[in-house]
Amino acid sequence: MKIINVDLGADSYKIFIGNHLEEQIKNFIATAKFSRRALIVTDKNVGAAFGAKFEKLLRAEGLETVTVTVASGEISKALAVANDIYTAAIEHKLDRKSPIFALGGGVVGDLAGFVAATFLRGVPFVQIPTTLLAQVDSSVGGKVAVNHALGKNLIGAFYQPRAVFTDLDFLKTLPPREIASGLGEIVKYGVIADADFFCYLEDHVDQILALEKNAIEHIIARSCEIKADVVSKDEKEGGLRRILNFGHTIGHALEEETDYQGYRHGEAVAIGMIGAAYIAQALELIDQSVVERIQRLIDRFGMISRARDVDVDGVFDATFRDKKTVDGKINWVLPEAIGKVRIGRGVPEEIVKGALKKIID
Ligand SMILES: NC(=O)c1ccc[n+]([C@@H]2O[C@H](COP(=O)([O-])OP(=O)(O)OC[C@H]3O[C@@H](n4cnc5c(N)ncnc54)[C@H](O)[C@@H]3O)[C@@H](O)[C@H]2O)c1
Ligand SMILES: [Zn+2]
Repeated sequence: MKIINVDLGADSYKIFIGNHLEEQIKNFIATAKFSRRALIVTDKNVGAAFGAKFEKLLRAEGLETVTVTVASGEISKALAVANDIYTAAIEHKLDRKSPIFALGGGVVGDLAGFVAATFLRGVPFVQIPTTLLAQVDSSVGGKVAVNHALGKNLIGAFYQPRAVFTDLDFLKTLPPREIASGLGEIVKYGVIADADFFCYLEDHVDQILALEKNAIEHIIARSCEIKADVVSKDEKEGGLRRILNFGHTIGHALEEETDYQGYRHGEAVAIGMIGAAYIAQALELIDQSVVERIQRLIDRFGMISRARDVDVDGVFDATFRDKKTVDGKINWVLPEAIGKVRIGRGVPEEIVKGALKKIID
């Protein structure tokens, strides 16, 4: 088992990564000074597979649990669904020290975290991420949100969990496309911050795809460490945290252009990373071999590396609608080498469109 500390002063917390974390969860509850009543938020798929076992674990520790099971998928990241959870919390008399546990992927984590941040001005929040994407990305860093009909993640907060329990056993039932989606974010951490980690990924593709314990534990832990390090230096995204957005400017544009139906998030990010690498190449920050190295790793992980059902102009326009665009200026995250990125503002239109042409079929 590995433990990562997320260092945020009074809001610091630990991420536990390993198999069978029941003991760690029990010890945490025993010292957490929670009220007796607790809420579990999960989705239909995860609840059916793991809900009963998790309820039993919490009840054995003396918590009286209520479970709210939401529909699976992005549709549940909505204020109306948050409202249903507030109703359950009020009806079951949760108080300020009642914990909310998120048992699920990024959707459940973002939704339950948003409710925890706002209910009674904030109640304790615990993450049990069950997708690879949630384990390496959304459960770390404290961004919580629901969507608005006019845009994704527009209503949210920074709200840190008390602890994150990342059980590798959850990955066994995860469909291959969801694994690929998480791998997109994992490749990102190598490119933005750690050349050795990128080499490790290149050298362990087979073990990772086979979900071998040592390899998968290492890449999840290293990803969390990199994200935790960035977040602890810049919790509210004043500057450095932007590097986590590598691949996301184009990635978000692809997701938006396909109405969030075309790609899993990490798949869109993977294509976006190749696009950003082409921009960096056109600006002579890197040469073709670096672009090819990123592309090859994405291919070997079985991810799609080219975009379909979109056109260059549409994707270009959508990059300006990203919520990270401020005053019409995009902060492009561009590789200078594997393991190092810089922010580029005001990249000329023809360079962006040239890169988009290379990644769109
Ligand atoms: N807060 C952040 O910093 C952050 C970062 C990245 C992404 N996100 C958000 O995360 C969301 C995407 O998260 P996601 O990719 O985990 O999607 P998800 O939560 O929708 O999960 C994907 C699918 O896998 C199923 N599933 C979950 N765990 C499973 C398991 N162990 N076995 C079998 N099936 C399982 C779910 O029911 C769902 O159908 C998006 O809303 C995105 O905005 C947030
Ligand atoms: Zn992402």
